[in-house]
Amino acid sequence: MNILVIGGAGYIGSHMTLQLVQSGHQVIVLDNLYSGQAAAVGSLPFYEADMADIAVLDQIFQNHDIDAVMHFAGYIEVAESVSDPAKYYQNNVVKTQQVLDTMCRYKVKQFIFSSTAAIFGNPSYTPIDETHPKQPVNPYGRSKLMVEQILADYENAYGLRSVCLRYFNAAGADPLGRVGECHQPETHLIPLVLQAASGRRQSISVFGVDYDTEDGSCVRDYIHVNDLCSAHSNALHYLAEGGASSAFNLGNGAGFSVLEIIQAAERVTGKAIKLIKETRRAGDPAILIADASLAKEVLTWQPQRAALEDIIADAWAWEQILCATHAG
Ligand SMILES: NC(=O)c1ccc[n+]([C@@H]2O[C@H](COP(=O)([O-])OP(=O)(O)OC[C@H]3O[C@@H](n4cnc5c(N)ncnc54)[C@H](O)[C@@H]3O)[C@@H](O)[C@H]2O)c1
Repeated sequence: MNILVIGGAGYIGSHMTLQLVQSGHQVIVLDNLYSGQAAAVGSLPFYEADMADIAVLDQIFQNHDIDAVMHFAGYIEVAESVSDPAKYYQNNVVKTQQVLDTMCRYKVKQFIFSSTAAIFGNPSYTPIDETHPKQPVNPYGRSKLMVEQILADYENAYGLRSVCLRYFNAAGADPLGRVGECHQPETHLIPLVLQAASGRRQSISVFGVDYDTEDGSCVRDYIHVNDLCSAHSNALHYLAEGGASSAFNLGNGAGFSVLEIIQAAERVTGKAIKLIKETRRAGDPAILIADASLAKEVLTWQPQRAALEDIIADAWAWEQILCATHAG
């Protein structure tokens, strides 16, 4: 298939393009490099442009016989979405709608969307399945839920079929070291912990050690980025076979606390990691764990690299590549 990957220069999108190419698909990347790296695109056809640039979208849909669109492009910082919601609604909602409208004009009717656990807000039960109430507590989560709602309306009215994949915490890196996570600023726990291990940062802050969890720190569900990508590949197949629009939660179904992550990182890296206990941050639920049974059943998806130490080992190998790059 000819797949347009929007946000294909970013963390998850760049792993996706590698997997798609390996499966024999033709991949076209659109990314404005707001937070992505041109090097992560390699030699694929690459349109460096904003996804709202209609002239470029026209060019892409006219030049390539696009079968499906995978959409990873989004702003992802929760705190920034609270201080500047306009930026998030503009990029994550308004520009996404322009992509959908262009797809409809060119009669491209298969869409896979990066959604998030943040659409659920504070969990009323855990593990979180797809029927859990959707009450996001920040503009980032609301922007993703709005797109999910737009997609339901677009299927009813225009026949655009979609799969929304709600990631819990993406982590790890390509085991061959070709791509990995490098957000600026980095806000995700595992790369921050590994930066503390490598010496790129002095310490790691633990926000809240008085939660109602076993060791008092927050518990999250970490899923290897390549396992997220394989769920997209299965979703592509599902849509190509005529599957109806659906949404799936993606995680390993196991939770690890912040303190457990730090201890696991110390074991994997062999380094002592300095931690600083801080007060809780506003809006952090104690526990977020996915119930991914629906994805396993409907998409016949099974995470392959679920062991926490494997996820951290891949992220650590990537952190060492970044260190070498910075030193160079
Ligand atoms: N990383 C996670 O743990 C996680 C968890 C849940 C959901 N998600 C979602 O997955 C998606 C990908 O996340 P990521 O961690 O790879 O983020 P990322 O920032 O690494 O990648 C996003 C990519 O989209 C590009 N982009 C952003 N706005 C654009 C625009 N207007 N036009 C063209 N390109 C644009 C960026 O340059 C970047 O390359 C996001 O939509 C995010 O909300 C990520």
